Amino acid sequence: MSSSKPKHVLAFDIYGTILDTSSIAAALQPLLAVDAATAAQLSQLWRRYQLEYTWRLNSMGTYEPFDVVTRRALEHALAEHGLAPDARTLAHAMAAYSRLPAFADAAPALHALAALPHVEVVVFSNGTEEMVTAALAAGALAPRARRMFLADAVRTYKPARALYDALVRFVNSDGAEDDVPADRVWLVSGNPFDVTGARSAGLQAIWVDRPGRGWVDRASTFEPSTVVRGLGEIVDFVRSL
Ligand code: LAC
Repeated sequence: MSSSKPKHVLAFDIYGTILDTSSIAAALQPLLAVDAATAAQLSQLWRRYQLEYTWRLNSMGTYEPFDVVTRRALEHALAEHGLAPDARTLAHAMAAYSRLPAFADAAPALHALAALPHVEVVVFSNGTEEMVTAALAAGALAPRARRMFLADAVRTYKPARALYDALVRFVNSDGAEDDVPADRVWLVSGNPFDVTGARSAGLQAIWVDRPGRGWVDRASTFEPSTVVRGLGEIVDFVRSL
């Protein structure tokens, strides 16, 4: 019987996994009056600095909420292109970030996973509660994931070990009789640094390799537990667990 299977938890990363961060380029282009190639470069640089800032803050042992990190990273990316837009334009760019479109496979996969009795889906993100709630609502994904565990709770960003350890404790804070061990907690992420962070903390990790380029990350010897090309494949995979 499927209900007698051991419970597994899928902890979904948001940015770059459920929400398509690259699509922000289309919003930046008219807003900043730049050409498509510049908008694409800006969106990549924005994402790069956003992540770099989180890693730097972790290394310094300090913390700023992810909305602050995201806005400062945008200002940095723009400054490198000689752009210093007014506060209103920056606010519009940030508003666009809170309405990032979901990848097309996100809603059907979350819907199918919700029907599996041995699986719980939680949201696991660097984003603040306000950002994640707004982003999921914009993608009509909010009701599908019941619990959220966010970096804000421990004021440390991925891939700090403390955050993955805290995720496992959070998963087991629902009063259920049997604990779910770390090796039945599956990070689902398109971000290699997140995947290796989870694996080094003893969790499982499903890497979403949308372009299909294969694993090239050499920061450590940790690798994904399994690799999928899209979120739909995860449904069949966890059904077999
Ligand atoms: C997140 C970033 C890492 O959602 O994508 O946590």
